[in-house]
Amino acid sequence: MSLQAIGLIMHCRAGFESEVGAEALALCERHKLAGTIHSRSDSALVRFVFNQPSDWTSLLEAVPFTDWVFARERFAWMGSIADLPEQDRAGAITSELVARYAKTPLRFGRVSCEFADTNEAKEVSGFLRRFAPHLEKALTKKGMLAMRADAPTLHLLFETSGACDFGLSMPGDAAPWPMGIAHLRMPLGAPSRSTLKLAEAFFALMSEAERASTLRPGLRAVDLGAAPGGWSLQFAQRGLRVSAVDNGPLAESVLATGLVEHVRADGFTWRPKQRVDWMVCDMVEQPARVAALIADWFVTGRCRRSIFNLKLPMKKRYAEVEKCRALISARLDDEGLSHLMRMRHLYHDREEITVYLTLV
Ligand SMILES: C[S@@+](CC[C@H](N)C(=O)[O-])C[C@H]1O[C@@H](n2cnc3c(N)ncnc32)[C@H](O)[C@@H]1O
Repeated sequence: MSLQAIGLIMHCRAGFESEVGAEALALCERHKLAGTIHSRSDSALVRFVFNQPSDWTSLLEAVPFTDWVFARERFAWMGSIADLPEQDRAGAITSELVARYAKTPLRFGRVSCEFADTNEAKEVSGFLRRFAPHLEKALTKKGMLAMRADAPTLHLLFETSGACDFGLSMPGDAAPWPMGIAHLRMPLGAPSRSTLKLAEAFFALMSEAERASTLRPGLRAVDLGAAPGGWSLQFAQRGLRVSAVDNGPLAESVLATGLVEHVRADGFTWRPKQRVDWMVCDMVEQPARVAALIADWFVTGRCRRSIFNLKLPMKKRYAEVEKCRALISARLDDEGLSHLMRMRHLYHDREEITVYLTLV
């Protein structure tokens, strides 16, 4: 039995709703899905309402999570439940889901109770912490919750405690953290919060197999714009040797790893003598200039993979990202270099996005 989605719901950083709207329209248009974007500025949420309902599994396959840049999380929107009674919200939600799905094979592997990432939604998040265990218990009692790793995740989005939207995603085709909010600990000796960006990128943009084969002792990395050394430390803690290129000073804690060599030079002109496994770049520069630099390292055979930031302009941020993507792809394609590029506006990113690029 085909279960129909009425649209898509996306989480994002507050202020980036129009970028998510633009990418939702572009991605869905590729698959002939037409509809209307609904979002309030600074709400950290975007809804895309389809003109015609769409089978939820083929919908998500058509717009896989890895293709989204500005959405921190996205799920197939199946419906809404209003007027939840204060005395038994869990019961009301469970009854609705049982009525819809008990006669279908659909069972949920996990429940994600969600709220917008805004200051206004803080109150709802407190309520959800207390409410989620009650809901899980009620769904389990009705046999709707299978707690299986391969079953769909049920997303319940609350803007108030009295109503919710609900939807579905598949494990492995979703953000690695609920709502895409990465809770990461600062590593010991980290000199900057920027270190968390690279730590998040390793998880959000790479698979477990990719991490295991490319983040291991004995490999070499170059870090352009390295000071004070938060990114270099991420590599050193995994046993890689790092050339940290920056005219600014590196923190003692980073040099003390014994794996980081400080190179005082201009990151745009310096090149390694031998090919390296990784090049990362966190220099604050025009995005097109960084994109050209990255492409140059790949086409001249200096690295096999890279993670880098593209600082976003104030306006036309989505267009700028697409321009940089096209610039890099065109240069690598011209040289016959088969590659894979994943881009994301990470939880730890502000006015920038992070890109993972690798030869395949
Ligand atoms: C955002 S900070 C990098 C933070 C670093 N990733 C960390 O985790 O600690 C940007 C750095 O880029 C450096 N930078 C900017 N332009 C540069 C250039 N042309 N060559 C080398 N470094 C540059 C700056 O000196 C600054 O230290």
